[in-house]
Amino acid sequence: MDPELYSQGDPFVQWKWLRANDPVHWHRPTELPGFWSLTRYHDIRTAYRDAETFSSAQGILLRPADHGADPGGGRTLALTDAPRHKQLRGLVDGWFAVRSVRALEAEMQGIAERVVNTALEQGSCDFVTDVAARIPLFVICRMMGVPESDWEHLYDLTSQAFAAGDPLTRRFAHLNILGYFETLQAEKAQKPGDDLVSVLATAEVEGERLSADDVILNCDNLLVGGTENTRIAAAGGMLALLEHPGQWQAVRDGHELLPSTVEEVLRWTSTATHIMRTAVRPTEIHGQRIEVGDKVVFWLPSANRDESVFTDPDTFDVHRTPNRHLSLGFGEHFCLGSMLARVELRLLYGELLRQGVHVELDGEPKLLDSIVVNGPESMPVRMKAA
Ligand code: HEM
Repeated sequence: MDPELYSQGDPFVQWKWLRANDPVHWHRPTELPGFWSLTRYHDIRTAYRDAETFSSAQGILLRPADHGADPGGGRTLALTDAPRHKQLRGLVDGWFAVRSVRALEAEMQGIAERVVNTALEQGSCDFVTDVAARIPLFVICRMMGVPESDWEHLYDLTSQAFAAGDPLTRRFAHLNILGYFETLQAEKAQKPGDDLVSVLATAEVEGERLSADDVILNCDNLLVGGTENTRIAAAGGMLALLEHPGQWQAVRDGHELLPSTVEEVLRWTSTATHIMRTAVRPTEIHGQRIEVGDKVVFWLPSANRDESVFTDPDTFDVHRTPNRHLSLGFGEHFCLGSMLARVELRLLYGELLRQGVHVELDGEPKLLDSIVVNGPESMPVRMKAA
């Protein structure tokens, strides 16, 4: 649970030991509540499938007990159970379906091209903030109906909200994001357009309009969900490709490898470090009794290196197939933006390949100190067109 383990240590050694020796491990309470750790692929998938036992409504991330309940609990898409979850998801899932994402692809390609060209003009830049962060942010802003003139403003706010450093600056930026959506949702409720915020601002769930707070929290969920993991996965994937030049060369030689490369980047980076559930009825896993109220934590990067499922799990292999990783979750709460994330990664790497961009590290990448998301926080690079 030490955030520095993820920035400076090697959590995979501990996860490997847990998978082999203690797959349902009780972690005693600290400032965090006590919880069960699941580290094996099949145990996590089985628990994911059983949403009637493992609830999302009390939060999906470990939180210090003195921070109180998660404010989104029972209200946002990620933090609700059936039947409310199904209704909320039904409001927005059409926007994330294959057909809708395909319809946006040309625009997304334009965004990827613009971002890569700006980085090329700069020559030296931070791949995380200057390249990887902008594409998913601009795409989700476009889908949410944020006017293009505000995209840079939201980019600044999300950069501050995700940045390391002063927690007060982060919290202030996050409050500003909520404030931004408070205004936007009021405007969209008055004058709806063809966008996600309008859908939420005018929607009814269980026969009632969503409250303004529920709309704002769901907007925040979409913005954060839509940007944070994709940004880190895109940068972590680039880092893996730079660290395995033979693999990057294989993709350059055969662009048809892009889809399997994206899947391997998702498995390898596994940016969502943990996902939590709360048992709402007693159950047993490998003979361990789980009581009502117990927290159960799924360590997704561990599942994705489970040697009983993946051949040579510690090898980064862009040819890997099948590749049924759990980086995007599984079951009812399977990542809403899975298709979008895959297309964004494919378009970014595809654009670098199309222009024959040479990318090289220009300093040490810094990894995030966090138990929630893992991967590069900053990654200085030099980029040059062929
Ligand atoms: C590489 C990128 C991404 C990764 C690794 C990722 C990971 C995940 C994971 C692990 C979950 C499951 C949470 C759970 O089990 O409780 C999830 C859910 C979700 N993701 Fe993603 N995500 C990514 C990109 C996106 C994008 C682009 C969006 C766009 C809006 C998005 C929106 C969401 C939402 C709204 C949920 C909640 C779905 C629900 O509870 O029904 N994600 N994501």
